[in-house]
Amino acid sequence: MIPNVDNDSLVYLNGELVRLGDAKISVLDRGFIFGDGIYEVVPVYHGKPFRIHEHLARLQRSLKKVCIETGKSDADWEHLLRDMLKRSGLADCTLYLQVTRGVAKREHGFPTDPCEPTIFCMVSPFARPDAKKREHGYSVVSMPDLRWQHCDIKSVSLLGNVLAKQFATDAGVDDVIQFRNGHLSEGSSSNVWVVKNGVLIAPVRDEFILEGIRYVFIQELAQKLGIRFESRAILQEEVAAADELMLSSATKEILPITQYDGKAVGNGKPGPVYAQLRAGYDAAIAAL
Ligand code: PDD
Repeated sequence: MIPNVDNDSLVYLNGELVRLGDAKISVLDRGFIFGDGIYEVVPVYHGKPFRIHEHLARLQRSLKKVCIETGKSDADWEHLLRDMLKRSGLADCTLYLQVTRGVAKREHGFPTDPCEPTIFCMVSPFARPDAKKREHGYSVVSMPDLRWQHCDIKSVSLLGNVLAKQFATDAGVDDVIQFRNGHLSEGSSSNVWVVKNGVLIAPVRDEFILEGIRYVFIQELAQKLGIRFESRAILQEEVAAADELMLSSATKEILPITQYDGKAVGNGKPGPVYAQLRAGYDAAIAAL
């Protein structure tokens, strides 16, 4: 019995459908031993995956960056995800897909003998951010970004992110904003947005942040809505002096940050640029 999950739900593991409660992998799986794998989280609204092709393109990029070969095409992945979605019967959910390098003797270098990647997919119910979160926003604290220099890879090696989220929990807030060498990187599991004088600003998409699927989506929304957008290095002082702050991710969509290091952001309420982007986001979901 795994607590807090539906143990009877069906998951995909290496070509088979099994009960979540019965799904097993080897203790020598390199995902378990080394965190040697990558993943994706695709949100689904009323049975329709949101930006699935963008997610699959990022999946293939992550696989390539860590040299895991699955032999699967975008069409194969899409078929797998859509099949799991259909079987789940869920309308609002997330599709979680994980690929590790597979099972091998514990040696750090890539296995030299043939090694089949481990492929796992589960579908989980997804509770969209509620009205309280949308209206009151998130409280965050700043912290140094202690992670590695390949944050662009959607790796399952998430210890740095786990510790960052726990830092927030221990501080009694919702999340953190991380800074590397005095510059904004991202949240514990989200991209961060700054608004100053009506301009929407996000950090450059380099190896220090994950290229969020919403990063590009929100950039497109801004363009459509006539909001000026800049992608550039953002100083910690600029974040502290922002008119608005926001974060985005598959499961948080776009949310306002209204408290930063114990102080109100702007007037402490979600701002006008957030309101515009929020409306655009909701409209895109409704139009799926
Ligand atoms: N996290 N940055 C980090 C470190 C993340 O983990 C995520 C998403 C993002 C936003 O990416 P996207 O817009 O593609 O969701 C940015 C997922 C949701 C997770 O780990 O559950």
